[in-house]
Amino acid sequence: MDKGSIKLAPSILSADFAHLGEQVAEAERAGADRIHVDIMDGHFVPNISMGAPVVQSLRKVTSLPLEIHMMITDPDFFLDDFVKAGSDSFIVHWEGNNNLHRTVQRIKALRKQVGVAINPSTPAAVLGEILPDLDQVLVMTVNPGFGHQSFIYSTLPKIRRVSHMIAEATPTCDLEVDGGIDQATAQLTVDAGANVLVAGSAIFGANVGVCAAMQKLRGGIKSNGLILRSEQRFDFTKERLCS
Ligand code: DX5
Ligand code: ZN
Repeated sequence: MDKGSIKLAPSILSADFAHLGEQVAEAERAGADRIHVDIMDGHFVPNISMGAPVVQSLRKVTSLPLEIHMMITDPDFFLDDFVKAGSDSFIVHWEGNNNLHRTVQRIKALRKQVGVAINPSTPAAVLGEILPDLDQVLVMTVNPGFGHQSFIYSTLPKIRRVSHMIAEATPTCDLEVDGGIDQATAQLTVDAGANVLVAGSAIFGANVGVCAAMQKLRGGIKSNGLILRSEQRFDFTKERLCS
């Protein structure tokens, strides 16, 4: 797994669902690295969103990896449906899963990438034993359930801690952040060790269009002088001119 560049994962939760295909295609043309799909059931989080049919439709319009963020109480029940629909990776939550190891092994048996997410109040230490099995960790930087929320700054030291844990246990594992990521907070999370940025409202909710919003997000980091941990850099070859 290439950890040398910072990756962008646009979250379609804030997209215009009447134009979802076009918006995802625009994100791909603008150099997105993966598409983040938020699945909510109204139980695990106080909101509902979408299911496997949306993934099936998206599979036809993009060749980017489709990353499924499972904010549902029983992720195991739905894995097969999402795999059939064309999903490439799953992120499941530590919270509420009494058999996380089993869920992780099931995803691996399906030959899909697997990540574990932790909420803002969940300590980094819970990842210790499961970390060697993971392709990525997702540190939630808002409480899951909604787009357009404000970044929770107390998650920054935790991102740093998780980054150190990953470096020791499994250096190829991605460290992703999700929630309230914009031009300003992106830089802070990257400085703390994140290498994959999920952004919903900053990409699909901006009035400037998807491509320009992605340029702005990348630019927010670039313009700050950018002293990144280790050799991490944005892959600027992914930048595209917006028409
Ligand atoms: C929130 C979701 C996020 C959401 C982020 O529970 O997991 O992926 O789309 O939205 P923004 O970037 O607007 O905070
Ligand atoms: Zn998400």
